Amino acid sequence: MPRTEFLATGFHVPSRLVTNEDLAGMMETSDEWILQRSGIKTRYWVGPGETGVGLAKAATLKALAKARLQPADLDCIVYCTCTPDHFEPGNGVFLQRELGLSDIPAVDVRNQCSGFLYGLSIADAWIRTGQYRTVLLVGAEVHSRGLDKTTRGRDTAVLFGDGAGVAILGPTVDDGRGVLSTHLFSDGRHAEKLWVDGPGLAHDPFVSHEMLDQNLHRPVMEGREVFKFASTLMPQSVQLALQANGLTLADVKLLVPHQANLRIIEMVRQATGLREEQVFINIQKFGNTTAASIPIALDEALDAGRLRRGDVLVLTAFGSGFTWGSAAVRW
Ligand code: ACO
Repeated sequence: MPRTEFLATGFHVPSRLVTNEDLAGMMETSDEWILQRSGIKTRYWVGPGETGVGLAKAATLKALAKARLQPADLDCIVYCTCTPDHFEPGNGVFLQRELGLSDIPAVDVRNQCSGFLYGLSIADAWIRTGQYRTVLLVGAEVHSRGLDKTTRGRDTAVLFGDGAGVAILGPTVDDGRGVLSTHLFSDGRHAEKLWVDGPGLAHDPFVSHEMLDQNLHRPVMEGREVFKFASTLMPQSVQLALQANGLTLADVKLLVPHQANLRIIEMVRQATGLREEQVFINIQKFGNTTAASIPIALDEALDAGRLRRGDVLVLTAFGSGFTWGSAAVRW
């Protein structure tokens, strides 16, 4: 059975750079508070006319060019987002249409910050079994339009950014290289600890003025709980990835964690025992871009020469649901 390799990666962020000072003009917050609590200095937010699918298309075209492939070479699209352009249908088919494709499957994955890992696991299974050969895996989010940008929503609004990151995946015959393992977990007992309650079909009517007045359409988070679980479960899933493949910490060239919060990443690093140079961090520039954060970070890491053929890469994520997991890849 072949393994799955990354043929190319790419990312795209909107043109509007938003600094912590810009946020301090919208709500009661400060550069100092945001930096100290999250490590974030800037993030990118969409402007007029920009959409999640538009960001995903731009990232896809960059990755296709790097892989020297055309859209027609893609056999399948796996689109991971928790901030779709529309309720229905999912973003996958809109991206497919934008790429000029009409006869390949497009599937949407709704697993928030762990979306890219879940999508990778699905794509990996399809590639290994030969069902699809060249898979476009997308993580893309537009959070900014959904955030409460007043002081009421400041605990979440300052953390999130918009962006898209993609990977083009295909089978490798080179023994030993490729995706070695994926481990996925979820625990719905914590679903309401980071969620958007409505609009939703659990409500009757599914959308109402009262719902909007109550701010149910904004993400709400029990920040400390998220922090506690993330900083415990991400290190455990990294250790699992290493154990499953008979690897040690010294074997890891790079850990690319979901960029949720600098303090969470630092706790993951300390709990696993990895050295600073083994962990890639770019949250200071982009904020938390949820399903897009791992592919954006991976593309930047590759651009910076942090990963070479044969190196061991570990990915880990944690997010709303709660969902979490890890992947190990021999590059
Ligand atoms: N600016 C200024 N003050 C703020 C802000 C803000 N943006 N947000 C909250 N505060 C205030 C609070 O109102 C509170 O004030 P009070 O003491 O007068 O009541 C004070 O700051 C402290 O609030 P806490 O919530 O206790 O602050 P904490 O130190 O826990 O930090 C944070 C909050 C940053 C959200 C933290 O809990 C955290 O990092 N949690 C993890 C959440 C996370 O990273 N989520 C990302 C999405 S999920 C994921 O990707 C894994």
